[in-house]
Amino acid sequence: MVKIFRGDEFIDRDNEIEFLKNKFKSLPSRILWIYGPKSTGKTTLIEYIVENELLKDKSLNVKYINFRGKMIGSYDTFIDSILEEKNEESETELNRSYNLGMFKLEAKTLKKYKENKINLFDYLINEFKGKKNILIIDEIQVLENIYIDKEKLLLNEFLNLCVRLTKELHLSHIVILTSNTIFLEQIYNNAKLKNTSEFRLIKHLDYKTIEEWLKIKNFKENEIKLIYEYLGGDIARIKKLIDNLQYSKSLEEYLKFEAIMARSEIKLFIEQSKLYEKKEEMKKLNFIMDEIIKNNLFDNNKFDGYLDIISKLCEIEILFYDPVVNITYPNSQIYKKAYELIKEKQ
Ligand SMILES: Nc1ncnc2c1ncn2[C@@H]1O[C@H](COP(=O)(O)OP(=O)(O)OP(=O)(O)O)[C@@H](O)[C@H]1O
Ligand SMILES: [Mg+2]
Repeated sequence: MVKIFRGDEFIDRDNEIEFLKNKFKSLPSRILWIYGPKSTGKTTLIEYIVENELLKDKSLNVKYINFRGKMIGSYDTFIDSILEEKNEESETELNRSYNLGMFKLEAKTLKKYKENKINLFDYLINEFKGKKNILIIDEIQVLENIYIDKEKLLLNEFLNLCVRLTKELHLSHIVILTSNTIFLEQIYNNAKLKNTSEFRLIKHLDYKTIEEWLKIKNFKENEIKLIYEYLGGDIARIKKLIDNLQYSKSLEEYLKFEAIMARSEIKLFIEQSKLYEKKEEMKKLNFIMDEIIKNNLFDNNKFDGYLDIISKLCEIEILFYDPVVNITYPNSQIYKKAYELIKEKQ
């Protein structure tokens, strides 16, 4: 259940790994969107699979592009971030895993792309022909609002390419990761993309898995319950707790402090957006959070007119909206506890 990945613990995700391995064995026919709340481990999961499964299979042509941290402000910088000059060094085995994100071209051809003389997307289709391809893109929302020329939006062209490579040509598996749910909602509401895509949610871990993991780490049953009450199955926050517990008086004190910090985030949002002046909006926020405190979720299927305020809270990563089932969750359980604190003072 606990594996080691990059010298650190890698917990569970067996079902997701199995699902992806099977997916890659099938004929590519749809874009696969992997989405989920902040820090549930989407990137870690995909990188685990790339390193432990895909790279070992020499028959696969794997490209993994993570746009996080890449400064893409124009079409030129996009080209620079995925195309690279071919040289002998880049062909070596050692470089196979380091060069995953780049397409390699002869210097002369690369120049033509930079001068916008050749259509990059036609090139990419050719590049994929005759191979078993897997293309993985993380943080794709970075490509939003960038134009190739006056008429063409980069993101649209790129997603058109993805549809061609999957549904029409069956040439490459395409996996796209995002935790930006506002962005995902737009994709989901675009009929063409919805019909050519499938969506897989990566949630925080369930109680049983957290319990198993924390028992190995010598936590007692009542401590595990308390941790889950505050942090849910948020691996990143639980790892932080394990690293920092020694600096706290007690487990309870640590968790309460985390809730106070999360409360500050919500309060800051109310302050900065001057929400307190907008009675209707404040009422809506209170209602959403009441539902979350009661049911652990807010069911948008039951209540209309809440998506605007939910979008704002998704932007600052306090809430997570799942467009596939039309339900809103806290991004992490700690925001539910934080709102309980806010209510205590009301
Ligand atoms: N299965 C796992 N086992 C152990 N640690 C994990 C696991 N998944 C994620 N983590 C840890 O949690 C943190 C967040 O993971 P990661 O960045 O992969 O999440 P993400 O869903 O891609 O986040 P974002 O929403 O910001 O893109 C990392 O520090 C990572 O090491
Ligand atoms: Mg990520």
